[in-house]
Amino acid sequence: MATVYLNGQFLPDAQALISPLDRGFTYGDGVYEVIRAWNGKPFFLADHFSRLADSCAKMRIGAYLTHLEDVPQRLLKENSLTGDALIYLQVTRGTAPRSHVFPPADTKPTVYGLAWQFNPNPAWTQGMVTILEPDVRWSRCDIKVTSLIPNSFSAQRAKELGAHEGLFVRDGVVQEATLSNVFAVFGGEVHTAPLSNYILPGITRAIVLDLCREHGIPCRETPIFATEITRADEVFLTSTVYDVAPVKSVEGHALPAEHPIADRLVALFRDVVRRECF
Ligand code: PDD
Repeated sequence: MATVYLNGQFLPDAQALISPLDRGFTYGDGVYEVIRAWNGKPFFLADHFSRLADSCAKMRIGAYLTHLEDVPQRLLKENSLTGDALIYLQVTRGTAPRSHVFPPADTKPTVYGLAWQFNPNPAWTQGMVTILEPDVRWSRCDIKVTSLIPNSFSAQRAKELGAHEGLFVRDGVVQEATLSNVFAVFGGEVHTAPLSNYILPGITRAIVLDLCREHGIPCRETPIFATEITRADEVFLTSTVYDVAPVKSVEGHALPAEHPIADRLVALFRDVVRRECF
């Protein structure tokens, strides 16, 4: 049985009870973070809390997050997670009678946390198979909301087609994927979608852009067009769960088998993990 966090308490998961009137249940009205940990240490924790605070502010959820900063570490400890692990934090607008308008301002947000051992899929490091999906999400993809139905539909469609990820295309532009950011290399230059309301500001994305700048790998935040991505020299994905993962095909088009820039970034990213967590 796992020990979870709910509204100020660490307790066995079976005792973590949430009202069916919780806005997260009735409206999908909540935000979340997924944090990676290695060696019992959360990775880039401050950045995740800063994004969580940003999501709460944009959603007008008045949660006090400062006192939560020890929760990830404590969840790892309570569950004896000393290796590769994931931590999930979710904040909803709280419990209130069902009504489209927001509940009274004194409604307490529901805060839930869980951690578990993570076993990455070895296929991710060998090359992701991807498909293109129409981006039917709302236009506030910069907020990490729990309402993930379009992401879930596209992830499921990818799975049913034997692929690992669905790349979201809006107005001809590859914005991001169902749970990752997308990069493509053209003529030695790394491209990724600029920050906007159509993508999540990925923490792994920011680390990779910093690594490019630090190590002299040319990079530019510029749109990647769906008509061009199949002709890229390399495509790779970044996410808390994938780290840096090379892509081997997009919508049935094979990409070059060699991906030297992605390989270099995989190695540089591992160095960051070693520096931060070991
Ligand atoms: N998702 N874009 C989307 C839509 C995402 O859901 C995620 C992460 C990312 C990558 O962000 P980061 O590098 O900060 O993990 C990009 C998490 C892993 C999830 O929903 O499980």
